[in-house]
Amino acid sequence: MGGKMEKFGFIAHLLKIENLYKQYGILKIIPEKILVWLLKWAPSFKISKITGIKSITGKEIEGYLILCPLLPQQMLSLDDKFVVRKVIQAGKIAEKAGAKIIGLGAYTSVVGDKGFLVANNLKIPVTSGSSFTAWAVLEAINRAAKNKDVDLSKSAVAIIGASGSIGSLCVRKLASQVKKIIITARHLEKLEKLKEVILKIASLEVQIEGNAHKAVAEADLVITTTSAPESLLDLQEFKSGAIVCDVSVPQNVGGKAEPERKVTLIKGGLFKAPVEVEFGIDVGLPKNIVYACMAETMILTLEGKYISYSLGDNIALEQLDGIGEMVQKHGFDIVLSSD
Ligand SMILES: NC(=O)c1ccc[n+]([C@@H]2O[C@H](COP(=O)([O-])OP(=O)(O)OC[C@H]3O[C@@H](n4cnc5c(N)ncnc54)[C@H](OP(=O)(O)O)[C@@H]3O)[C@@H](O)[C@H]2O)c1
Repeated sequence: MGGKMEKFGFIAHLLKIENLYKQYGILKIIPEKILVWLLKWAPSFKISKITGIKSITGKEIEGYLILCPLLPQQMLSLDDKFVVRKVIQAGKIAEKAGAKIIGLGAYTSVVGDKGFLVANNLKIPVTSGSSFTAWAVLEAINRAAKNKDVDLSKSAVAIIGASGSIGSLCVRKLASQVKKIIITARHLEKLEKLKEVILKIASLEVQIEGNAHKAVAEADLVITTTSAPESLLDLQEFKSGAIVCDVSVPQNVGGKAEPERKVTLIKGGLFKAPVEVEFGIDVGLPKNIVYACMAETMILTLEGKYISYSLGDNIALEQLDGIGEMVQKHGFDIVLSSD
């Protein structure tokens, strides 16, 4: 049965050294510093088989989880070419195992010109997950606004990480729906360019704000989608009644707001699958919950849509078209909660 099933590959890297100990307890005998050094030279490898993925159409697929054994700080600080070679090697493992498409998880989609270099060196298509993630965030914001009777056309929205892959998709989509947009990131020149793009899409008030704290203090809706490795904002800083969608992994928003301020926090970028998925390892999520980036690879495989998707940091807005139909067709839905 499994032989004929269509397969995908998904490349992840280590998020914490503890995850490695959890899987291979024996490694605790090696001093941490030496282990981290060894990781640099360890090849990527197949860590598990992902099974039980079944669409409501009846189609069943399976996948391989390939681990690029580098920690986040190694992914970002080692020579880009070196890291890209490791990600390509991981991709080749999936390719050999019969995968028809490969998803790039976490920082594996940030290196090598945001996925392009990896895609150019593999025979099968590659995707970063940014389109499905942005779609999920926009869907969550729209549904939460409806639930709270918030009129988008009268609202100010702040996007923290606006010049990134996901941020820029959200900004361009929301430009024609809201009254005012506040765009934030560290490099202001990228925001200047983004502002020009926004004003070509719609005429609305666009504010460039380098300070994320100031941006969120006056926004009715906030999307946080930065690659900052730490929490940037505290829930106390948001405007009363604000709707906040934090898609960053690790999360950008911490703390607790007083209940009377009625701030809604949504943990963005998660999908509910129609079945329980067997990941073969502990991914830290309930079995029917999937990160949007992996959901993108799964749903494209269920669709048989084997094309490179979501690469680079200027993804065409059209990539969002049709996602809603695909998600619904296969029985997936977004998660609209703060847990
Ligand atoms: N849930 C999911 O399935 C899923 C899927 C994909 C990605 N994600 C998460 O979504 C986030 C964004 O991903 P991406 O691919 O869009 O990243 P990206 O393209 O690298 O963009 C990151 C954005 O954040 C900004 N930024 C970085 N550090 C910042 C800081 N300290 N303060 C303010 N802005 C900062 C960057 O601009 P500057 O460099 O100019 O500051 C850029 O605008 C990441 O946390 C990623 O892990 C989640």
